[in-house]
Amino acid sequence: THKIILDTDPGIDDAMAIFFAFQSPEIEVLGLTTVFGNVPVSMAAQNGLSLCELAEVDIPVCKGVAMPWVGPESKYAHFVHGDDGFGNINHPAPVGKIDPRSSAEFIVEMARKYPSEITIVAVGPLGNLALALRLEPNLPKLIKSVNIMGGAAFVAGNVTPVAEANIWNDAFAAEIVLAADWEVNMFGLDVTYDLPFQPDFTSILAEKNPTLGGFVKKAAEFYTEFYSKGKETEQCYFHDAFPLAYMIDPSLFEMTAGNVRVSTDKLNQGQTSFAPYGTTASPDWLEASSVNFATKVDHPRLTELFINRYAL
Ligand code: BDR
Ligand code: CA
Repeated sequence: THKIILDTDPGIDDAMAIFFAFQSPEIEVLGLTTVFGNVPVSMAAQNGLSLCELAEVDIPVCKGVAMPWVGPESKYAHFVHGDDGFGNINHPAPVGKIDPRSSAEFIVEMARKYPSEITIVAVGPLGNLALALRLEPNLPKLIKSVNIMGGAAFVAGNVTPVAEANIWNDAFAAEIVLAADWEVNMFGLDVTYDLPFQPDFTSILAEKNPTLGGFVKKAAEFYTEFYSKGKETEQCYFHDAFPLAYMIDPSLFEMTAGNVRVSTDKLNQGQTSFAPYGTTASPDWLEASSVNFATKVDHPRLTELFINRYAL
């Protein structure tokens, strides 16, 4: 099994991804580390705990970074995920307690406990990982790999024409994380926007798994309304589950290795410019961070995997 720490800002697609991880025997979730993003960090932590309680999974849920590395407080995505981060469904508050360790402290502690065993799956802004790198500069040697939902290699952004939300939300942190010397696999809008899900998909999840799938179906109604504006068919996207699916079955994806740069300037904030190896001879680019970017995904097989896992 793969030991992971799931770094998240729940969030509706985060919720769907968290349950997908819990339902997958190949994946052992050591804890949830939460970060501001879709919602403020205290809500992200409470939501993470609610999801664990609903799934009856007893793991630490930590609260992390509340603001971007540089600049003013973030604009949260309540218009995408609802006032509660769950599509305004009045889900009861959790009864348990948030872990006293910060998200960054938890990452460092686990990395020291299980050297080279842990993959960090980051599906929110990257502030917790950047802070963990500051707490423990040796972290890249202690971590197996970092799988990120974020960025856009060859397609447009979703917050601005060039930037994807997780990277845009904390571009300086993203730059720190990508510059560190560890294996990074990125799952951005090239693959996640390539696979829209119609409401019949969440109905199947609910049918197979009334508790977890039922929650996702209910929460996704508001989210689907947002994503369907101006479209002919009702649909939404489950971005955050993609880096987890890669851990279960890497053959679902085509990965392209290359160099990446994150823009921190105001206008292009959070842009991920990507040069596959061999496509640029510029010396600056040859020094840029190395990543594997997901550039293609097998739709039918990924959809089937989600459904099978919810059904377990
Ligand atoms: C990402 O931004 C958030 O709204 C989603 O949860 C996902 O992590 C998609 O750009
Ligand atoms: Ca997210």
